[in-house]
Formats: sequence, structure tokens, C-alpha cells
Amino acid sequence: MIKKVVIPAAGFGTRMLPAAKSIPKEMLPVLDRPTIQYVVEEAADAGVTDVLLIVSRDKKAVEDHFDRHPELETRLAAGNKTSLIESILRLQEKVRIHTTRQSEQRGLGHAVLHARQHVGNEPFLCCLGDTIFSGSPVSPARELIEAYNKYRTSIIGLEEVPAEKVERYGIVGGDLIEPGVIRINQLVEKPRAQEAPSRLAIAARYVLTPGIFECLDRTTPGKGNEIQLTDAIKLQLQSVPIHGVILQSKRHDIGNPVDWLKTNLLYARHDPATWKQIEPLLRSLLS
Ligand code: UTP
Repeated sequence: MIKKVVIPAAGFGTRMLPAAKSIPKEMLPVLDRPTIQYVVEEAADAGVTDVLLIVSRDKKAVEDHFDRHPELETRLAAGNKTSLIESILRLQEKVRIHTTRQSEQRGLGHAVLHARQHVGNEPFLCCLGDTIFSGSPVSPARELIEAYNKYRTSIIGLEEVPAEKVERYGIVGGDLIEPGVIRINQLVEKPRAQEAPSRLAIAARYVLTPGIFECLDRTTPGKGNEIQLTDAIKLQLQSVPIHGVILQSKRHDIGNPVDWLKTNLLYARHDPATWKQIEPLLRSLLS
């Protein structure tokens, strides 16, 4: 059973500057709640009970968001407004939240390495804190955990991307072994379209077996002089099988201003009360 999730949220977020200078990009809201709250909710709904947030020194706001705030709770209760923070109170009942600090921003792989002691010798879910998913009743976390229960290997969430975009992503190659499941035989970081083994991009959600830590130990800095998680998974693939699951939901990375705004509009579109207020504005802008 997978009971732990690791959520890296310690990056500099340079594409989100200046907004993310002192507020972590993971705390930027999509509609009514910070992006990272959706990520924790996704993991909790998939049966995870233990959350480890990897944060940086500037990211106290992430810890505070998930902590109790007795004064505020009392004030809201007095005004019959507890519903405003009900979603967080519900999460606090479902999961225990822990944090650890990545003091130097040396890459996603380096961030995951900070989870070693907490995770111990168990497989764990790993969800990037700046990416959320919509469009399917089955979340990526559920799909990946289900695949892990069947295959007992590291599992990578995948999203099909258009050919002209493969050079932006880590792309996998492999054999389809059942609908939506690939046995991976190669991982290529940002290939040119004509060299890509497929159009299946690594999509911000993983189940990792504990062997990944030893692979991360052996991973030297790669692209951008950072310790890349993809490079460590490549090392793991040399000794054990790894599977990929083509996710049913659509990915939204809020790590740059345009995609963050698009994500807000998409979520607004699916919330009738909000859409009713947004639609007239959009119509007037388009006319
Ligand atoms: P990104 O690749 O988006 O990098 O990280 P970034 O540094 O956050 O943002 P840019 O590229 O400068 O705009 C993907 C995920 O990995 C985390 C980020 O917080 C994000 O959730 N991350 C990245 C870390 O936790 N530590 C790192 O050293 C790098």
C-alpha cells in the first residue's frame, strides 16, 4: 500500500518572477485555493495519509497554509463562515503533513533525495507541487497507485504531447503492454522531434520505488547543472523494469504566467457560479 506522497515545492520558480519572489509559485491560487492544495487533495483522495512537502527557506507560507490557525478558526466559527476553510480542515483530518527543507536549489532529483529518511524503504507517490490535473474522474495519483499495485515497479505518469512540443519534455519509449500502460525501455530528455522515441512526455506524477535514492546518489548534475530526477530514473531502468501510465486527465503546469492564467480560466469554466461572472467579461473582450 502506498501511504506517503512527496511533493517537491522548493524550486526558484524563475518563470513566475516577480510574482514568485517571496510567495512560492505553488501558493498561487487557481480559483479559490493555492495550487499545492489541489495536489495534496489529489494524493489524499488516492488513499495517501502522509505528506512530505519539500520546501525552500522562502516557503514558510506553504507550511503555514496547511497548519491550524486557531484564531482564524474561532473568528470564522463566530461568524458562521467556517465553510471558507472547510477544504483545509477536511485535509487536516485525512493526512499528516510534514515538511523538510532543500537548502540549495540543485534540481528536482536533489529535492527528492531529501525525502529519503522520511520515506524509508517503501515505494512512494511523488507529485510536483506546481502541476494539477483535470478532466477525468480518475486522478493521476489513483491511476499510478493502481498500476503500482499491479506491476510493483516505479511508475511514471505520461501525457501525449504534439510532435512540435516533444523537445520541451522528457520523452519515453517502450512497448504498450495493455491499454494505457507502457513497459519503458528508454527515456530521453528534450529530444528533437525526429529523434523522439514517442510523443509520450513525463507528466509531473510518479510512483517511485526506494531504489531511486541510490540512483539519485549516483546521478551527477545534468541539464542546467541540476540533479535531474529523469537521469536517476534512467539509471534505475538499467537494473529493474519501469512502467509508464498514459494519464486520463489533462495536465496544467502553473509555473509560468500564461499557463497559470489559462488554468484559472479552465477551472472557472467548470465552476458554474464563477463562470456566470466571468463569461460576460470574456464575451466583451472578444467582441
Ligand atoms: P521546475 O522545473 O518548474 O523548476 O520544477 P523551478 O525552479 O521550480 O522553476 P523555473 O524553471 O525556475 O521557472 C519542477 C518542480 O520541482 C520543484 C519545483 O518547486 C517544482 O514543483 N523543484 C525544482 C524543487 O523542489 N527543487 C529544485 O531544486 C528544483
